[in-house]
Amino acid sequence: MQVTEANVGTIKTIYSAEQIRTRLESLGKEISRDYKDKEKLVVIGVMKGAFCFLADIVRQIELPDGLQIEFVRLSSYGSATESSGTVQTPYLELPNISRRHILVIEDIIDSGRTARFFLDYLQEQFNPASLKIAAFLDKPSRRVVPIEPDYVGFTIDDLFVIGYGLDYAERFRELPYLGELTLHQKG
Ligand code: IMP
Ligand code: MG
Repeated sequence: MQVTEANVGTIKTIYSAEQIRTRLESLGKEISRDYKDKEKLVVIGVMKGAFCFLADIVRQIELPDGLQIEFVRLSSYGSATESSGTVQTPYLELPNISRRHILVIEDIIDSGRTARFFLDYLQEQFNPASLKIAAFLDKPSRRVVPIEPDYVGFTIDDLFVIGYGLDYAERFRELPYLGELTLHQKG
């Protein structure tokens, strides 16, 4: 597909909406199995990127106690394709979730800085009964900080991807599929 509107670049589909749905069905089953005997899971979606993944994965998780949904907003990318290196916390309000089972829902683990920061923060603030992270995407080849997500939708190469929540300069989050964005050379 050619992005003509802003002449940004070219988008190649990596995972279709259908492929994403199929993968999330089995991931949801896996999470349901792992938490079925645990009390009151709280999932925390990291905005903005995780909004599609969170909405879809919680509807694939079936637990006797149901689950609680919270949101924070963190960012480490400016509006470029490279991480800024420091994690910003535009919205970090959470109720008291001390000693609960916590599952963080992320769009993608890239350098690992955002996830590491947030897991350390939650550990220190709430001393959770358990603390895990589910990432829609994992780019292990880009890791700067050692961290391994507990649940991964798809592991991808070092590509810049957009859609299904992920953006390039706040564009493309609404696309129902995951695409690789190749930027046009300026010139
Ligand atoms: P990390 O702290 O380097 O792991 O960065 C994680 C954040 O960078 C993600 O939550 C995304 O918002 C953003 N990010 C990393 N890779 C991509 C990508 O390929 N496309 C869009 N956003 C990305
Ligand atoms: Mg993000």
